[in-house]
Amino acid sequence: MDRLLAVNIPENDKCYDIYINNSPVESLYKDLLLRTKNRKRLIVFSKKVYELYSKNLPFPKNEVFILKDGEEQKNLKNYLKIVNLLIKNKMTRKDVIIAIGGGVVGDLAGFAASTYMRGINFIQVPTTLLSMVDSSVGGKTAIDMNFAKNILGCFYQPECVYINLNFLKTLCERQYMSGLGEVLKYAFIESNCCNNEPKSLFEFLSINSSRILGRDLYFLEKLITICLTYKINVVRADEKESGLRKVLNLGHTIGHALETLTGYKKYTHGEAIVRGLKLIFKWALKNCYIDSVYYKAAMDLLELYGFGSINENINSEKIVTLMLLDKKAETGKIKLIVPSGARVVTEKEITNIQEFKNWLSEQ
Ligand code: GLY
Repeated sequence: MDRLLAVNIPENDKCYDIYINNSPVESLYKDLLLRTKNRKRLIVFSKKVYELYSKNLPFPKNEVFILKDGEEQKNLKNYLKIVNLLIKNKMTRKDVIIAIGGGVVGDLAGFAASTYMRGINFIQVPTTLLSMVDSSVGGKTAIDMNFAKNILGCFYQPECVYINLNFLKTLCERQYMSGLGEVLKYAFIESNCCNNEPKSLFEFLSINSSRILGRDLYFLEKLITICLTYKINVVRADEKESGLRKVLNLGHTIGHALETLTGYKKYTHGEAIVRGLKLIFKWALKNCYIDSVYYKAAMDLLELYGFGSINENINSEKIVTLMLLDKKAETGKIKLIVPSGARVVTEKEITNIQEFKNWLSEQ
């Protein structure tokens, strides 16, 4: 099982490859050594992944920076530690940072790579489902500041992405389910994401739930490939999120507000997104953007993956305040990506914020 996907972004003439396979992790190590031959390396490693795989990925200690797990690690302090290591190791633009871990590691290492000497090479090795289907591809890099998520960041594409499916075997159940939350989002935006290809993710997820929940690597390779094909289409058309890329934010505006409100401690990213998805579907139904048949099909799919009975105690006042502060928001306005038909979404402005707040408080 070896898959190669190409990301090409005409806007900045950038092109890079995504390698997907389930070869032993030792062969990933060989690939990385070969790829970075004659260059200095700094490996930013997730602590958990390092504990599990340092024997299979035996980079010399002086090349390794270990990052504890958790969104709160994506901070200025760790960013500066990485930059100081780059300086100490006299790394130059031709050298390379390798991020091995989930989205936190990739975002932080990518931000350090994008700013050090105005940009040094950067390789993504995502080890969680969420980072495999989303954050490792498309060039979003960032750190958080004072509870403002991803507030310092830039678009900076990696040199390449290595997805080794074996990492999914040791991913904890909660993080695996978190990744599936992001996967399900793609099913609801697939008409926006495919050009002429047949739309198939919704069916694929419906038919193969037990294989996917059971982490069958054959099915996961197919699943990740579909999600990334969608993401590549979107990023190719709109790298800087001025239009189409916004569709990837389905469920995220409410989800991010929930994460922020709970200090990134209560929910994983995917858990917050699933809550955001459920709420935005309800809102779309209430406003007749979608019919009840599609609403039911979407809820059934979420339920199939164990996301059925989620009820939230919503502090609507605080959620709406945070939504107004969202970095993608215009002053005083809330614009949301909303389901507007089967597997298709549209950006809508909430014209009556008070009404939306009242509605949220009733959920
Ligand atoms: N995670 C959403 C995006 O890459 O735009």
